[in-house]
Amino acid sequence: MSNLLKVKSLSAIMGEAQETGEHTLKRSLGSGSLIALGIGAIIGTGIFVLTGTVAAQYAGPGVVYAFILAAVGCVFAGFCYAEFSAMIPVAGSAYTYGYATLGELFAWIIGWDLVLEYAFGAATVCSGWSGYVLSLGQDFGLRLPPELAGTPGSVFVLYQGHWEFLGRVQAKLEQSGIDWHSLPQRHGVFNLVAFIGIMLVTSILVVGVKESANFNSVIVAVKLFVLAVFLVVGGNTLIHHPEMMKVNWHPFLPPNRGHFGDFGWSGVLRGAGVIFFAYIGFDAVSTAAQEAKDPKKDMPRGILGSLIICTVLYILVGLVLTALINYKYLNLPDALAVGMDATGVRWGALLVKIGALGGLSSTMVVMLLGQSRVFFSMSKDGLLPPFFSTIHPKFRTPWISSITVGLVVATFSSLIPLAKLGEMCSIGTLLAFIIVCAGVWVLRKRSPELPRPFRAPWMPVTPILGILVSFGLMAGLPWETWVRLFVWLALGLIIYFAYSRKHSRVQLGLGPEPPH
Ligand code: ALA
Repeated sequence: MSNLLKVKSLSAIMGEAQETGEHTLKRSLGSGSLIALGIGAIIGTGIFVLTGTVAAQYAGPGVVYAFILAAVGCVFAGFCYAEFSAMIPVAGSAYTYGYATLGELFAWIIGWDLVLEYAFGAATVCSGWSGYVLSLGQDFGLRLPPELAGTPGSVFVLYQGHWEFLGRVQAKLEQSGIDWHSLPQRHGVFNLVAFIGIMLVTSILVVGVKESANFNSVIVAVKLFVLAVFLVVGGNTLIHHPEMMKVNWHPFLPPNRGHFGDFGWSGVLRGAGVIFFAYIGFDAVSTAAQEAKDPKKDMPRGILGSLIICTVLYILVGLVLTALINYKYLNLPDALAVGMDATGVRWGALLVKIGALGGLSSTMVVMLLGQSRVFFSMSKDGLLPPFFSTIHPKFRTPWISSITVGLVVATFSSLIPLAKLGEMCSIGTLLAFIIVCAGVWVLRKRSPELPRPFRAPWMPVTPILGILVSFGLMAGLPWETWVRLFVWLALGLIIYFAYSRKHSRVQLGLGPEPPH
């Protein structure tokens, strides 16, 4: 058993970091840059698409309560991530922290679990991105046949001479007294745009992407600008038509319809588990701990700052969106653009669509990059086959790994509905949070002497609350998502015992693998 919990020594980790030049990372980021880094990674499909999904399916305008609940869990976990990343200053991830502290089996579980966060996360974001691409295309008269415009099962109806996604025209049909069942129907089979989206990002990653702070600042500015325009234009419409709020916000939290998660407070809990996806990415702030000028001060500011800004923005967007359009009609791939349409300001919807496309692309890059880094580290440690860390001779990127991951993620994105992908990403990330919070707590007890440039406040309350809230959010997710999680973890353990354990460089007592 102790073999399974073999840790990778901190000196080995630091040694590898030095080889790759990570020790030379400059402490150049102040709290402002860290907040921007966080916002750049956080704002994505969650706010642009899932706000509508959660309002329509689980909580109505009460989606704002879900936003608050999910943010609370993120704050506690964020502190724990920051403590780990400042203590083990390599540009790694929860996987590396796990290997150094909890041992190999936990590291494997975290690494395997992070696939859910990064790969499923990228698939979710791309699914949202495709919704906005298709919607923008329609504005210019470009349409795909329904079979190539949606995941299996999505319904399209023939309305006014065009095949329309049912969600998009449902409100109009009801208002005109048309029963959609009476219209000709076709179903989605393969979301081609989502597939192409992931393959495009994959080719960028193969050729090599330089994460540049300037580029990030532009993207952050675009995302914030688009959301600000949505709030101003939407808010202005509501001021002139207050009756919209009266109608659409009553009831603010629709009563439960008899099943757990079907509106009411249990719907808020389920909604929080799903909408939690909108906050994923703030761990990017913690991975920059070793680049913070003054980690003690800058880390809490970076984590809390980006979370607070996003929470406030999300709540406001949730309020305006559910006031503009009745929650029942918000199960849409391009909810914010449709909300803009309701204001009558046509350029507004166009702006939201273009802004969403730009903003979501950067989130996809961050997620797929995160995935290839985790597989790269696992392969270097011998836990995955060597081709996951084979570097392209010219581009210097792990190209085989990127293409393999890209093909799998693109297939998921084109075949699985967005909400299901998002739920898998949420449950996987929440599990990673729980392990990281537990790890920080265990390590404070086991090795109190280790230098910790940033210390999570209110020990042990912070990790305990991080674990409890994360578990609560997981508990709110549908049982099918739990089953998928267990199947995923079981598959991971089979691979670990069949392959990884026998090839692990730590188990074999080998040093780091020479570069190839
Ligand atoms: N938080 C990111 C998003 O909402 C992952 O797209």
